[in-house]
Amino acid sequence: MEELNIDTICRDLSRMAPAERKAAYEEAGAVIRRGGTVAFPTETVYGLGADAMNEEAVKAIFRAKGRPSDNPLIIHVADEDLEGIVKEIPAVARLLMDRFWPGPLTIIMAKHEGVPDATTAGLPTVGVRMPDQEAARALIRASGRFIAAPSANISGRPSPTTFRRCIQDLNGRVDMILGMDQSRVGLESTIIDVTGPVPELLRPGAVTLEMLKETIGEVLYRPSEAGEEEAPRAPGMKYRHYAPKARVTVYRGQPATVRRRMLAEQKGRTLLIFIGEDAAAPAVPGRSLLILKNAEEAGREIFEILRQADDEGFNEIFIEAVAEVGLGLSLMNRIKKAASYDIVEVIE
Ligand code: TXA
Ligand code: MG
Repeated sequence: MEELNIDTICRDLSRMAPAERKAAYEEAGAVIRRGGTVAFPTETVYGLGADAMNEEAVKAIFRAKGRPSDNPLIIHVADEDLEGIVKEIPAVARLLMDRFWPGPLTIIMAKHEGVPDATTAGLPTVGVRMPDQEAARALIRASGRFIAAPSANISGRPSPTTFRRCIQDLNGRVDMILGMDQSRVGLESTIIDVTGPVPELLRPGAVTLEMLKETIGEVLYRPSEAGEEEAPRAPGMKYRHYAPKARVTVYRGQPATVRRRMLAEQKGRTLLIFIGEDAAAPAVPGRSLLILKNAEEAGREIFEILRQADDEGFNEIFIEAVAEVGLGLSLMNRIKKAASYDIVEVIE
């Protein structure tokens, strides 16, 4: 990856009084207007933003992340005025916006010709999202621009959900980093493409497949599985993602049986992750074991846990599978990718 030597300004919004915060948004908005890069919190994961309509600014995002230029960015907006970024707002998109914006839903629509190719990687379509995070919307408003932003990680690493991880990845590579709390959702937004005859879910997130169907009826979903990654629907899906250094294995089956098996196969530097309200630590002391209550908690924590496991030098991570319904579908989508689809089916 290219060496960059930028003096990064870091601002911790969580420690600021309202007036100070306002000044920080103004400062960050000015950075965006002059074509700079600003990492900022959102409810899903932290994003790395720049003026979506400024080709040079957008290129700086790709440089900072070491991101391949054929992987398009999502445009973030602070209100429903999409004039100048999409050609038109289809009726289904309008329904989705009404129900889920602001929130973790990105809608792919036909792009306006004014959006630079660098932003959409040359595609005729563009993804748009209105984040449900006051700091994110305040930044967009202060900048007076549309902000293109991928997740604020170095390409290939798990998405950052905290200020600290943003700094770890991007200090010296971007102009400014704004920090707030840990991201509430922890998984990247749901992406739905409404440009075809039937809307298609490209990436599951906190707006679930069930919620989408309830709102607009039929929705296509073709989950990617091992070996199927050659022809990805969202260009970014072909890249190895969410991968910690440790080898990740998923264990699937009856919870009690799965957990027994995971404990039996745990060796020296193996971290176990149980997911379930009923999960309990075994009587054996000294186990490296994390217990997460449900898909919500696991979604919020998983990327941070993967990064923490690397920091602590684990070389294996075993994760209990959850049912692929609701948020569980989105969580398992990320976990299976982190595991490169290495799944142990546990039968009695
Ligand atoms: O929650 C999120 O969406 C976060 C925060 C910062 O908003 N952003 C995010 O961006 O996850 P990124 O770039 O890490 O993931 C965007 C995904 C990529 O897989 C990309 O290929 C896909 O969206 N994408 C973007 N524009 C697209 C388009 N026009 N058609 C199909 N896929 C698209
Ligand atoms: Mg990403």
